[in-house]
Amino acid sequence: MRPSLRRCIQQIQRAPPAFVFDIDGVLIRGPTVIPAARRALAMCEGDNPFNRKLPYILLTNGGGVSEQQRSAKLTQQLGFKIEPEQYIQAHTILKTRVQQYRDAPVLVLGGKLDGLRQVAHEYGFKKIFNTLDVLAWNPAVWPFHQLNSAEKAATHPTNFTQTPISAVFVYHDPRNWALDIQVLCDVILSEGRIGGPHVPIDQQKSPVELIFCNPDLLWKSDFPVNRLGQGAFKAAFQGVFKALTGAEYPHVQVGKPSEATYEFAAKVLHQRIEQLDGPHAPSRRIYMVGDNPESDIAGANAAHWESILVRTGVFEAGTTPRHRPTHEVEDVEEAVQWAIHREL
Ligand code: G3P
Ligand code: MG
Repeated sequence: MRPSLRRCIQQIQRAPPAFVFDIDGVLIRGPTVIPAARRALAMCEGDNPFNRKLPYILLTNGGGVSEQQRSAKLTQQLGFKIEPEQYIQAHTILKTRVQQYRDAPVLVLGGKLDGLRQVAHEYGFKKIFNTLDVLAWNPAVWPFHQLNSAEKAATHPTNFTQTPISAVFVYHDPRNWALDIQVLCDVILSEGRIGGPHVPIDQQKSPVELIFCNPDLLWKSDFPVNRLGQGAFKAAFQGVFKALTGAEYPHVQVGKPSEATYEFAAKVLHQRIEQLDGPHAPSRRIYMVGDNPESDIAGANAAHWESILVRTGVFEAGTTPRHRPTHEVEDVEEAVQWAIHREL
């Protein structure tokens, strides 16, 4: 067979790569866009040897606002249209829990004021409370914080001793760790009835389900040194709970690198591929580009994706990551160039 024909057949057989981009430490740092990000997305949007759009989604352990709001902000920051369907954040996966808890009182932790109540409501939950509501109901719950006028205006207090909480979702990073740990212990130890009698965990008939959405101990903001993430809040809560009861509280952990989050992301990416290339698109290699070996690389490797580690975020160049990537590069532009070259 003539080499040119073989190359042509190979080209037809080898589909272009698909990408999953982490955000903090890869595309942005705090409010600042990493310069390589725009050049990388320009290649994905068509400026590449395949002369076509390369499918991609964004997968972050961040959150705190609706997918619509954040994708609109990223569109403005990155200069390319990011559809809400291309954007998965730490708590997006909680949409899969609505059927189970739609009409049950749930407690949502994290985010600013009332923001996450709105997000949870948009997901479909109907009875959503936060720790400021609990403090508005009874200031004695935590006497070291007085609600300011903005906090008070955002509260929906109820009688929490008569309103048993069924589940607690830690959507995003809590702002008042002390208040949130106190209320979390109250809810769990009293089987959901804050202020009610404590019931030993092993004697509880319907223990409260606790779901954390982001395991990151550290993340890269625009501060020169890594910042504590939601994983640090979880460690603080479990430390207090173990001091109180002798054991940590059983919980569900989603977010990167959990299998549930990567399975969820794979479905979203395949929908994006079908949107761009139609229902019978050839299979292709998926490249995850991340800055945190513990979340991005670990999860991608476990999902049998290609993993590319960048040096613009949490990972310190020159160190040996516990989870080894397929490839290590300086930044996201180099990552996309390497993946494209590898698939040509
Ligand atoms: O809170 C966000 C931080 O935990 C990491 O975000 O985009 O690097 O997954 P990201
Ligand atoms: Mg990151």
